Amino acid sequence: MKICGISGSLRAKSYNTALLHAVKDIAAPDHEVVIADIADIPLYNGDVEASEGIPASVERVAGMIREADALLIVTPEYNAGIPGVLKNAMDWISRVKPSPYDGKPTAMMGTSPGRLGTVRAQMQLRNQLANLNTLTVAQPMIFVGEAGKYFDEGAGGLDDATKGLIQKQLAALAALAPT
Ligand SMILES: Cc1cc2nc3c(=O)[nH]c(=O)nc-3n(C[C@H](O)[C@H](O)[C@H](O)COP(=O)(O)O)c2cc1C
Repeated sequence: MKICGISGSLRAKSYNTALLHAVKDIAAPDHEVVIADIADIPLYNGDVEASEGIPASVERVAGMIREADALLIVTPEYNAGIPGVLKNAMDWISRVKPSPYDGKPTAMMGTSPGRLGTVRAQMQLRNQLANLNTLTVAQPMIFVGEAGKYFDEGAGGLDDATKGLIQKQLAALAALAPT
């Protein structure tokens, strides 16, 4: 299974990007995680779309999602929702036809310094993914609270319980992906 991984943070020392890299390491040898960068996707503007079409940066990420067997979104939580940069990238990508989201096996996870670990952002993301007609993994959900404990410099990395949950989620994602 080839998984296209997207982090919803542009921060160089992002906890969520660190979590995505951890998934890459934890994934089974036959699960390849390819990371798609959304940093150069411009703000959505319907006038730009009408006059210039879909930007190359959007086509690139849409192509990576289309070529992958599955999509994994690792999202921070900003004000109880997903970050604007992630929503904006998802909105632009939804304008590509045919939609790379349609029927795409998809999983999500996220991490934050708080104890809720992006629960509220993921509930919002789940709703958006339903609208985009992805096949979204229901369980296990992965909310990694107290991010600094795992990802700050000198921290020991993820604990075995969280690694186990990630393995279970990837197995659930593989079960949704066409063989
Ligand atoms: C505008 C803004 C709003 C935030 N709102 C929340 C929030 O609602 N819940 C939460 O757990 N953390 C919140 N945070 C803290 C983020 O979880 C924290 O900055 C985290 O490190 C962002 O993810 P990253 O490390 O992947 O960039 C917020 C941060 C910012 C900048």
